[in-house]
Amino acid sequence: MPELEAHPLLSEQQVNDKIVELACEIASSFPEGEPVTVIGLLRGCFIFMADLVRELHRKGVIIGEVDFLIASSYGGGTSSSGNVKIERDVKHDIAGKHVLLVDDILDTGATLQKVIELFKSRNPATLKSCVLLEKPARLEVDIKSDFVGFTIPNKFVVGCGLDYDQRYRELPYIGIMKEDD
Ligand code: XMP
Repeated sequence: MPELEAHPLLSEQQVNDKIVELACEIASSFPEGEPVTVIGLLRGCFIFMADLVRELHRKGVIIGEVDFLIASSYGGGTSSSGNVKIERDVKHDIAGKHVLLVDDILDTGATLQKVIELFKSRNPATLKSCVLLEKPARLEVDIKSDFVGFTIPNKFVVGCGLDYDQRYRELPYIGIMKEDD
């Protein structure tokens, strides 16, 4: 079982400050006074999204529905299968709504691409996406998230909802898994 590197890649303070910044950008990009439906990609989004919706509230954004989707592109460990499957769809109709998709990390981009394609076909009034992290070195498809917290090196990271085989999601900072020798 690989271990966690002792020094965090991003501290709790850096993550918290970034969420405040992101909420400012997001708040000013949606029409004032109209509710925003926030949809998270489970399970990695759960901590980031919880922090983000509270910060959006502080910036005056009305949160409409909160919903979740499960899409899988990873098996266990740190390698990608590249195969995206929607395992659980949202329960709400998003037609005519202002929608913000929230994910933990943009890696190959396959998951977000698939979900955006699916959601566009449901005719939302607005569709924007926000990720806490992006790893440009791994990107395989032509996709960009509208809001990105941090651009990180090609390392497998954990914390703030991200896991290694279901461990470390609860870390309040972003840590790096040591690579196997
Ligand atoms: P794609 O490749 O579709 O993958 O952009 C997105 C999903 O892959 C997982 N992922 C990671 N999980 N540390 C993790 O804990 C990582 O460094 C990492 N890179 C990708 C994650 O679930 C993400 O939503």
